[in-house]
Amino acid sequence: MQNVLISPSILSADFARLGEEIAAIDQAGADMIHIDVMDGHFVPNLTFGPPVIEKLRPCTDKPFDVHLMIAPVDPFITAFAKAGANILTVHPEAGPHLHRTIQAIRAAGMRPGVALNPATPASIVEPVLDDIDLILVMSVNPGFGGQAFIDSQLRKVQQLRAMIDQTGRNIILEIDGGLNAETAPKAIAAGVNAIVAGSAVFKGGASAYANNIRALKPGVKV
Ligand code: DX5
Ligand code: ZN
Repeated sequence: MQNVLISPSILSADFARLGEEIAAIDQAGADMIHIDVMDGHFVPNLTFGPPVIEKLRPCTDKPFDVHLMIAPVDPFITAFAKAGANILTVHPEAGPHLHRTIQAIRAAGMRPGVALNPATPASIVEPVLDDIDLILVMSVNPGFGGQAFIDSQLRKVQQLRAMIDQTGRNIILEIDGGLNAETAPKAIAAGVNAIVAGSAVFKGGASAYANNIRALKPGVKV
């Protein structure tokens, strides 16, 4: 069966107990930890930055899948590398030189990703396909957890799956926003191999996390 990575978004975790929450989702079967960094400028919300990520780093060995919703990005790349980010994903709209930003992320020892807002076309990644390790399709407008999945993004997932397969490169195709046991199978059928989920993972308290994660995997009926 197809392997799909689950990357719980800690945006829906209990912020007063973030370290414990990360240890709990690690135990519950998370493949990566999705960390949403927001600046109140690129998106209308604020979260956390490198100092918090650095403190969370010892809580798990799982990769930190860091989604930057900040502008500019470039002055902070080294700080995210030092804090322990493994994948660093940026929005093309966050700066004028996407290729340069991707190069800087790679040079800092991280894996570069590109995130596409609902109105951003798949074609924007075409010129950088040789340089990136992850594409993140936003299936909500970024900024908040708990929003409804935008179905039209499935077509973009299909386009990106075809583009990635043509490269023969191992690029993760991840989707973020409104994923749950109903929407995840549609996204997997369209071609994603990584799922971000916040509210669907963190509902019901720590004893529910393992089942919540399993419910997002392919072929699981709930
Ligand atoms: C939204 C974030 C998402 C968010 C997903 O801007 O990028 O990662 O936490 O939350 P849910 O799964 O609740 O839609
Ligand atoms: Zn995210």
